[in-house]
Amino acid sequence: MLTPVAASAKRIFERLDTLYAIGGGEGANRPGFSPEEQQAHDLASTWMREAGLEVEVDATGNLLGRLRGSRAELPEVWTGSHLDSVLRGGRFDGALGVVAGLEAVERAAASGARERTLGVVAFRAEETGCHGSRALCQTGLLPGTFLEVHVEQGPRLADAGAPLGVVTSIAGIARAELVFEGRAGHAGTTPMAGREDALAAAAAFILRVREAAGQIDGAVATVGRLELEAGAENVIPAHVRLTVDARAPDLERFEALVAALELEPHYRFEPVALAETPRLVLREEIDALGLPVIELASGAGHDAGVLAASGVDSAMLFVRSLAGGVSHSPAEDSSEEDVGLAVEVLTRTLARLAATPR
Ligand code: HGY
Ligand code: MN
Ligand code: MN
Repeated sequence: MLTPVAASAKRIFERLDTLYAIGGGEGANRPGFSPEEQQAHDLASTWMREAGLEVEVDATGNLLGRLRGSRAELPEVWTGSHLDSVLRGGRFDGALGVVAGLEAVERAAASGARERTLGVVAFRAEETGCHGSRALCQTGLLPGTFLEVHVEQGPRLADAGAPLGVVTSIAGIARAELVFEGRAGHAGTTPMAGREDALAAAAAFILRVREAAGQIDGAVATVGRLELEAGAENVIPAHVRLTVDARAPDLERFEALVAALELEPHYRFEPVALAETPRLVLREEIDALGLPVIELASGAGHDAGVLAASGVDSAMLFVRSLAGGVSHSPAEDSSEEDVGLAVEVLTRTLARLAATPR
């Protein structure tokens, strides 16, 4: 006979497998605003209705399920994450926060009456810039508190021997696109002197990206996409377009990195600290289970950061990543045991926050 925690974890993994299978191919393939992301939202909507939640979809397509509290006038307490994924993504990124959040809301509701309304949200298109959570913040229709469970997507909890971690802050992210123009020419008859090789110029910049990030503690920068023309082996490249994703843990280092690379970001998210009250409750509930209490900063961006930047008391509970912490890959992995612990901590935290009149 499974314990309630183990039963919750088992159901979560079954649901994660169902979501993972959407779109076929290796890994999770649910790009933002795609039919595959919609299929995941439809599934989650069904699971929410089966749990007795009132379900609504907002103008951006964010999915929200509510369990009403006794005092509708109090700010609500939400949990959740996103159901879109990168291409060939992992089983847990985003989906874990929605499915585990639903599980915890069901269990918190069963643990007794509460004053505040509990919500479970699936934000649209997180991977390409947190479109759903940013759109929600424009409406002002925000919860008082938001808790996001997410795989760590790194090795630190595994290195510390800790199943769970409380996130202190979320790194700043600047994303830019750069174009390098050269002059097409014959690979065999154009002398090296005087060539205007767009790819050679881009390559010099890419090395500058690595050098600038390497000189700032905790900063990272990535050229993730590069397209060139003409793309023939015997033609000097005339045109290169590439993307830069530059991140740093605090504002000073973030600004220094953006300045060093002279970026003009089309997407800019400044570093944000997460809220002390829900972080304290998470720490207390982790401690109450006799687990090590680890706090860590997030190098990945999350919807919780967007809500925090809009004044919502946001917090994040990381679940230990296995497989060396790999993410944005089919190899992403976590254990049922750790996920069960996360649901238990989230359930207790939600129940406490929902019973807190203010
Ligand atoms: O890119 C990120 O940090 C997140 O996975 N969207
Ligand atoms: Mn994510
Ligand atoms: Mn991601």
